[in-house]
Amino acid sequence: MPQALAAHGLPGANLGLADVILADLGVSSMQLDNPDRGFSHKASGPLDMRMNPTRGMPASQLIAHLSAEQLATLLDENADEPHAELIAGLLKGQFDKTDRAVGEYTTTAVDTLVRAGLAAAFPRLTQERATTSVRRTFQALRIAVNDELAALDALLRVLPHCLSPGGRVAILTFHSGEDRRVKKAFQAGYRSGVYATVADEVIRASAEERRTNPRASSAKLRWAITPA
Ligand SMILES: C[S@@+](CC[C@H](N)C(=O)[O-])C[C@H]1O[C@@H](n2cnc3c(N)ncnc32)[C@H](O)[C@@H]1O
Repeated sequence: MPQALAAHGLPGANLGLADVILADLGVSSMQLDNPDRGFSHKASGPLDMRMNPTRGMPASQLIAHLSAEQLATLLDENADEPHAELIAGLLKGQFDKTDRAVGEYTTTAVDTLVRAGLAAAFPRLTQERATTSVRRTFQALRIAVNDELAALDALLRVLPHCLSPGGRVAILTFHSGEDRRVKKAFQAGYRSGVYATVADEVIRASAEERRTNPRASSAKLRWAITPA
């Protein structure tokens, strides 16, 4: 962010500083709705999930690369998945067993694998619960593939230095892992004085907005203002 702001040479006295920063985190609908990007379990596509397809390893390679223990930790830390160990075992078991090229793995193959494994282990688990675990599995893999939490931590570190006096920042998060980090950073910034005011509570989408845009249901907004 500091380099980007400096490169754009923002006008006025506060060269390189922004008056307002809005960070809309996570994956975009354009990415989610394109099966070839592999972000969604709802459509068949390569198990990729890279936000920048020219960088990093796709999710299929990440699964092949990590141990079952590392995968379980990833599912737990990035998505609070209660069946993390079972799902990690399923993914590793599948990926290590066959000689298919890693790139051949699809989103629907993972969806089917997780559902079948959960149904076998918990015959009374509802379809809805199984879908939630599949959704969490995809979220956890996506966060790891794009190192999203490290990017967020980097943003939170530099933010106070990118805002002009009296500058405002608002961050839209979409899961508890992100929101926890933003809340802690803003509170710490308030205590240390780099922020003069921070949001007392999180702002959620109204019932009307959730009706017209269901994807806004998980969104949380927090804001902070630097001393004038
Ligand atoms: C939620 S979407 C933004 C959607 C946009 N605000 C809109 O309303 O259409 C977040 C975007 O940030 C991009 N992104 C993810 N990680 C990033 C990073 N570390 N730096 C910059 N952009 C990133 C993603 O590729 C994605 O396109």
